[in-house]
Amino acid sequence: MRRVIAAVAALAMLALTGAAPAPATAGKSNPAADLKAFQDYFKTSFPKVPFDDFVNGPYAVNKGMRAQWEQIMQFPPYDFELADGKKLFETKFANGKSYGDCFPDKGIGIAQTYPHFDAKTGQVVTLVDAINACRVTNGEAKLDVSKGPMAEIAAYMVSTSHGKRFDVTIPDDPRALAAYEAGKQFFYSRRGQLNFSCASCHVQSAGKRLRGDIIAPALGLVAAFPIYRDAWGNIGTLGRRFVECNAQVRAVAFKPDSTIYHDLEYFLTYMDNGLPVTGPGTRP
Ligand code: HEC
Repeated sequence: MRRVIAAVAALAMLALTGAAPAPATAGKSNPAADLKAFQDYFKTSFPKVPFDDFVNGPYAVNKGMRAQWEQIMQFPPYDFELADGKKLFETKFANGKSYGDCFPDKGIGIAQTYPHFDAKTGQVVTLVDAINACRVTNGEAKLDVSKGPMAEIAAYMVSTSHGKRFDVTIPDDPRALAAYEAGKQFFYSRRGQLNFSCASCHVQSAGKRLRGDIIAPALGLVAAFPIYRDAWGNIGTLGRRFVECNAQVRAVAFKPDSTIYHDLEYFLTYMDNGLPVTGPGTRP
């Protein structure tokens, strides 16, 4: 642990020196203006990275890692779980219905619109939530939101959106804007014993090395989920990764399905609008 702290402390010095898009907007919330400033910042900071390539996270900004990854992708480590996800998705519930019955277009090619804001409940709904809601509606128990069958089903649904681009909308509804602002605030707020924000690493230190890792730019950060991680040995959801990255700064992590992580996912996925859907992905 001491080595981790030393590495993070060294980064803290770096983080202080970088310029970054202004996190706080005075007055009315303006997601579209935020989106433009955010994407422009990364396009300017990484002029050699083609826009669509940001979905590849650390591989987009580091040649050595990219070469390793290209090797790995000859036999993607998530292939079996993706196949299981398809089977699960197509298996009927006890009542004879299936997941497809809960979604527009039978759930095929729709993942790029998640998370979305549900005007009825006033809540942000992630794809994972929608899968669980579908189960509950059909008399089935909820699944663990971090890994296992949930991650597999989500991986399959996401894979059917390949070729589409993220298209998350933030309607002009004060509750939707409040959720977006809460996610944004969380991303830029410093916390934990190390007093780091998500942005300290994924904006100011993007592309830099932290121990064996290359820190992925915040643009594209959520575009490849669910991911297979070597460190996990299986496939996991974004909620699972949020918990880990929160612990990284020695801050108390929230539950993977907490409201704040939903808001964070809403903010970050909105920032990825226009990027191609590529999940499932694979990471060290
Ligand atoms: C001390 C630096 C640091 C901080 C602070 C940090 N992260 Fe990370 N994060 C990393 C590293 C290193 C990785 C692994 C390499 C990578 O993919 O960026 C990572 C990976 C991720 C990933 C997976 C990206 C991918 O391509 O698979 C997500 C999502 C993420 N972080 C979100 C967050 C969020 C949200 C916060 C704030 C709660 C946060 N991180 C705070 C260093 C940090």
